[in-house]
Formats: sequence, C-alpha cells, structure tokens
Amino acid sequence: MTISTRGERIVVLTGAGLSAESGLGTFRDKDGLWTRYDLNEVATPEGFARNPARVHEFYNARRANCLGARPNAAHDALARLQRARPDRVTLVTQNVDDLLERAGARDVIHMHGELTRALCAACLHRWDAPLVMEVAAPCPACARPATRPDIVWFGEMPYHMERIGAALQAADLFVAIGTSGNVYPAAGFVQEAAFAGARTLELTLEPSATASLFDAARFGPASVLVPDWVAEVLG
Ligand code: APR
Repeated sequence: MTISTRGERIVVLTGAGLSAESGLGTFRDKDGLWTRYDLNEVATPEGFARNPARVHEFYNARRANCLGARPNAAHDALARLQRARPDRVTLVTQNVDDLLERAGARDVIHMHGELTRALCAACLHRWDAPLVMEVAAPCPACARPATRPDIVWFGEMPYHMERIGAALQAADLFVAIGTSGNVYPAAGFVQEAAFAGARTLELTLEPSATASLFDAARFGPASVLVPDWVAEVLG
C-alpha cells in the first residue's frame, strides 16, 4: 500500500521529528521545547503582547540553531522524491526551519510559518528575517516598530489551508513523518485524505496520537525510514 506508481499524487506532512536528527529538537518529547519553555509565553499573540523581547529572544535562539543545523538524510530523500516526481509530490510542513529547502526541496508549504521570515503586525509586510530580531526594529515598509517573527502562534490561523485542502482531496497517498498528531488542523489531515480516498502511512519514532487513523505505520528514526520509503516508491 505504500508503493506509489509514477502518476500518483503524494502529500507528505512533516513535523519536528523530521529535523530532530539535525539537532533541532522536538516539542513534546522528553526534553522537547515545551518542556523547557512555557508555550503561552513564547508562542501565543498574548505572550508576544505581554513581552515581545522574550518572544524575539526565543525565536532568535531557534533561528541561530537552525542556521547551525544541517539537513539530514530524511530531508535529502524528500527533496529527491520531489525531483523524481515533479508536480506529483506536495510537501506540507509544520516545521519552521528551512532544512527541506536547504536539501533542495522547492515550494515547501510552511503552514506554521518560517524562522527565516519576518512579519509586520501593523501593515502585514513580510521580508527575510535578520538573524537577530529586536522589538524596536522598524518595519521596512511602514517604519512602525511592530515587527514579529512570521510564525503562526497558537490561536492563529495556519497558512495555506485552502491549498493544503485541495492537495489532500486529490491525494492518492498521504504520508505523515515525525509528527505527534497533537496539534490541529495538521492532525486532522490524515482523516481528510482518507475520506477523499487516499491510502495513509505514518513514519515516526513512536505511534502518534492519530496512529489508529493510518492504514500503515513504520517506526524508527526518520533518517532511516524516509530514505528507505523513498527508495521503495522510486523503485
Ligand atoms: N525520527 C522520526 N520521528 C521522530 C524522531 C526521529 N528521529 N524524533 C522524534 N520523533 C517523533 C516523535 O515520536 C513525535 O511523534 O516526532 C514527533 C514530534 O512530536 P512534537 O514534538 O509534538 O512535534 P510536532 O508534531 O511537529 O508538533 C506540531 O506543535 O507546538 C506546535 O507549532 C508546533 O509545529 C509544531 C506542532
């Protein structure tokens, strides 16, 4: 069921487990980010309003981590799959790192935003984020000091939902990689794809909260599972 013929449409959803072996850590594993930071303080609009400097500090540290990280074999394999099946592979990610792009993937759909991008809360202008963002930095477009990381925080609407929905409706195969299935709407994509007739596969370290909704699952590190699965698909 996991093999996919050349003409089939594949939608891949990735989570923090894809980048864990690149050293970027995850959120809910034993030493994950949300075990060390209070997400209400650093990943909500209310937290940003209360203390923007603390939020910039949190994302500046993650941006520096990301810069120092390297794509792993799983990122490389997904880029390889996309090159081999142009227009047949949609890469949706919950991750805000740019490791898939640095592995050569194109048109990655970042539904939770990107560390490499900045947003002006006043005029909604977007630009490439500097490595270190500061509260008082003026927006390049409107000059107001209202800049924030271009990250979708809890309580905000994820990006590109229409495009993702259309891809799920047309999918023949939906594969979730390295995500715990705890955060919606991403956790509901497996059901959307299955209702539309797709086969579904989970590749992750341990069963996700939505494991029972998948037709098949393989457990292990993404850097092993993903290259093996891509090799199978590409024959
Ligand atoms: N290989 C494959 N999977 C792994 C690996 C690995 N090396 N290491 C960890 N995992 C799996 C874990 O088993 C877990 O299921 O990756 C998943 C990580 O889960 P989370 O930490 O919850 O990350 P994620 O699912 O991406 O979180 C979703 O929550 O906080 C928000 O916006 C944030 O995008 C994030 C969203």
